[in-house]
Amino acid sequence: MTATLPYRCYTDPAVLADERARLFAPAWHYAGHAGLVAEPGSYLTCRAGDVPVVVVRDREGELRAFVNVCRHRGAEVVSGAGRCTTLQCHYHAWTYGLDGALRAAPRAPADLDRSELGLRPAAVDAWGPFLFVHASEHPRPLADTLGELPALVAAGGLDVDALVFHHRSTYQLETNWKVAVENFLECYHCAVAHPGLADVIDVDHGAYRLERHPTFASHYAHVREHPRGSHYDAAGLDGQFHLVWPALKVNVMPGRANMSIGPLTPLAPGRTEGVLDYFFAAGEDPAWIADFMVLDDEVGAEDRVLVESVQRGMAAGVLERGELLLPSEDLIAAFQEWVAGARQTPSRGNASVHTREAIRSSPS
Ligand code: FES
Ligand SMILES: [Fe+2]
Repeated sequence: MTATLPYRCYTDPAVLADERARLFAPAWHYAGHAGLVAEPGSYLTCRAGDVPVVVVRDREGELRAFVNVCRHRGAEVVSGAGRCTTLQCHYHAWTYGLDGALRAAPRAPADLDRSELGLRPAAVDAWGPFLFVHASEHPRPLADTLGELPALVAAGGLDVDALVFHHRSTYQLETNWKVAVENFLECYHCAVAHPGLADVIDVDHGAYRLERHPTFASHYAHVREHPRGSHYDAAGLDGQFHLVWPALKVNVMPGRANMSIGPLTPLAPGRTEGVLDYFFAAGEDPAWIADFMVLDDEVGAEDRVLVESVQRGMAAGVLERGELLLPSEDLIAAFQEWVAGARQTPSRGNASVHTREAIRSSPS
């Protein structure tokens, strides 16, 4: 057995502030699907951690990203997604070109130096139809974050370039973001808590594969040879579930070509927002997609009960920490090591508020 992180790490606002600065701010963040910015003049808004970002396709067809914070008094310049010829702030109409340069500021003196007041550049990159943003202009490449993930997804038989965006689902959970991540990283609970899913995939120990990677963790599930009375037609791909540090879910459910992708974002120590963009093959049978969503929604509702229950238990203040059961929960151990900084900053020791001591193996 291995001790979990201290439960204080799931309830303390100071810990969350540290995580935002140390884990989320330096990361690439999923922004949305590329179809939203396919045409010149199209834009989408998103966040890179706490930083509002706008992604725009300029007149020359180049994809650009800017910090979506007005240089006048800090409003988010634009919201949602759509088409535009300029980026005009909704507060006092300061107007920026698609290159981020300040073009107009109503009533501004003639000698205002606009060249110093453009939108701050950010970074944007893509994996197939999935766009990612980074709050800095010159971060390490997205490919460093994704590592082998695109190759693993392709090896599982899924061509992400052939996927078409279907819909976005947004939800909130009354739990710490790490509880939601950790629930995602193990299927020890599947046989007990997800009877419908367990009818479709083989959740038995041994049939289920876990993999640690430097920047993400993966688990794989085989479709049962004889699904146990499920309505869902799971013939096709096996399941792949990846978690890219810190909190990006990449799901391929068993069945026909599909992917759901999106982050868990901390709103408060005990509240987390989740976004999932769903993709399927072009022309996929709507009846199959409807069956898919019934199963997916069922699993999501079951997981909500679990993670909200865990948060209440941790916040009760009775126990200091829990135990990880290995190897079934090895990916949680990997995640907790990463969160605690064991991999990211090995030389810094206890620089983080998650102490290395917190992740030592317990004597039992
Ligand atoms: S804050 Fe944007 S124009 Fe005033
Ligand atoms: Fe679950």
